[in-house]
Amino acid sequence: MFKSQKIRFTLSLAALFAAAALASPAMAQTKGDAAMGAKLYATNCASCHLASGAGGVKFASGSVSADLRAPGLEKTYRHSNKLLLRAILAAHDEDNERLDQPMPAWKGRITTAQAQDIIAYLHTLHS
Ligand code: HEC
Repeated sequence: MFKSQKIRFTLSLAALFAAAALASPAMAQTKGDAAMGAKLYATNCASCHLASGAGGVKFASGSVSADLRAPGLEKTYRHSNKLLLRAILAAHDEDNERLDQPMPAWKGRITTAQAQDIIAYLHTLHS
């Protein structure tokens, strides 16, 4: 019984890796996959920015997590995905100033393609 569970688990892991391997070349071609972005957002961002993207969480540093929903975020970043990408990967705001802690710089933790997926997802969130 335990052995069959183990085999099933191993098989589903193998299926996951196969799916990931198949998905990656397609992902590189598209500029941001909102469905992938939703998953990445839930794992990496929702803890501070809330599942809705509304933010408003206060931290010991005195900072408050930003509202990541449209149209506010898009306006702040001058409708530029390039500036948004920098905000996520380097934690620099629209004027290239360091965003307040504890906003992490995500470079090295997620790939550029993954950050683009998250940006595609953020465009679907509205206040
Ligand atoms: C540990 C908490 C934390 C996590 C995790 C986090 N953030 Fe943040 N984030 C913040 C805080 C706090 C700010 C506000 C910084 C400021 O006001 O300078 C912020 C600001 C931002 C901004 C700038 C918004 C603006 O209006 O200037 C963006 C974009 C952003 N976060 C995206 C993300 C994304 C995408 C993720 C996940 C990959 C993420 N954050 C994960 C805490 C976090």
